[in-house]
Amino acid sequence: MPPIWQKTDESPDAWVTRFTVGADAAWDTILLPYDVEGTRAHAWGLSTIDVLTADEYADISDALDDLLAAYAQGEVVVERSDEDSHTVIERYLTAHLGPVGGKVHTGRSRNDQVLVALRLYLREEVEVLQQQAAALIEQCCAWGEAWDEQLMPGYTHGQPAMPTTVGAWALGYAEVLIDDLGRLEEAGKALNRSPLGSAAGYGVPHLPLPREAVAERLGFVGVQTHVASVQLSRGKLEGALAHAYLQLGATLNRLASDLVQFNSRAYGFVELPDAYCTGSSIMPQKKNPDVLELARATFHRLQSEAQVLLTLPANLTSGYHRDLQLTKDAIMRATQCIQDVTEAVARVATGVRFVPEQMDAHLTPELFATAQALEQVASGTPFRDAYRQAAAQTEAWAVPDAADVLASYTYDGAPGQGRPDLLRQRLRDVGG
Ligand code: ARG
Repeated sequence: MPPIWQKTDESPDAWVTRFTVGADAAWDTILLPYDVEGTRAHAWGLSTIDVLTADEYADISDALDDLLAAYAQGEVVVERSDEDSHTVIERYLTAHLGPVGGKVHTGRSRNDQVLVALRLYLREEVEVLQQQAAALIEQCCAWGEAWDEQLMPGYTHGQPAMPTTVGAWALGYAEVLIDDLGRLEEAGKALNRSPLGSAAGYGVPHLPLPREAVAERLGFVGVQTHVASVQLSRGKLEGALAHAYLQLGATLNRLASDLVQFNSRAYGFVELPDAYCTGSSIMPQKKNPDVLELARATFHRLQSEAQVLLTLPANLTSGYHRDLQLTKDAIMRATQCIQDVTEAVARVATGVRFVPEQMDAHLTPELFATAQALEQVASGTPFRDAYRQAAAQTEAWAVPDAADVLASYTYDGAPGQGRPDLLRQRLRDVGG
């Protein structure tokens, strides 16, 4: 089938189609149902300004339902030769309704159409991601509650530093993850505006398009007002979202590293669920933390997608350029990556078993040297003197009772003083 923009009998060159469509057909297959909803809302808008009659709109809406049903059956995919989902939809309407199908594109361009579909898709997927992250945060809060008084060595530079507790460790992650969720919420909000009516970036003459009403029908908080802003912000808004993904991914990357390390034979602080570990083809004894390792590694993929989004629009003049198509590829791939990573860490976390005996066995005296110095401060010794004395008396370092250690912390958030209740409240505030 010829593309909708073809004006002569001459078909586009197959190589050019392959090159210009690239991987886009697969992404557009995913976007098709969102493109259908964008199309339905646009057609409704056209019916309010008499470009379409009420009957024509009803026929279009029914045909779009049929298209969605066929799509759900796997009967509709966007082929490379189709070029994009926009073409598939218009062709479907024309094939089923005749010339009315050719009216639907009145007053829009594929340039605003694609962004409606993408934003509707991202809105839904970011919600899924928020739920995945919230589940993990809740798991960390539950750990904080259950294990707030279990001492564990804390490390700096990979060396024993000071005591901490499982709870202090877990709630630290929960707090940072809540901040990450906040950034996600912000970036999602900025994308929740309708680009329809901007068309190719220059608006449309003659048609009093009901932009606000169409935006409202699609659940957007409003429109992007100035028509040029839509293409100027393409890639940028997605880039801000990808950066929010990166922040979340970076936290998960460190959490995965901690768990891999704590699970290692040298530490043994946790046991990972069997189902999320794999074996070795040669070493019969191995139980490897592959899921966490791949979750950790996927963060680096995310970085490259974010990089594309940040730099690709940089040298483009205003208005649409086909270059921008690759921003869709980047944000959709990044969305899949961050969901995978979050789900992976959340699933493993659910099955983590803490091993208190191992943590206790690793509570070596050096971990308490700082406490020893600070104890003397209470009797008036300047800290630096107490510090030097403690450093000189390594043989006097001892492992105190856990109860005494815990009793020595007085303020919220310190070891043994977790406030999961505060975190749960903050989680609700960021919509988790
Ligand atoms: N696939 C295109 C994109 O994502 C849709 C817009 C195409 N517009 C055009 N004038 N060729 O950017």
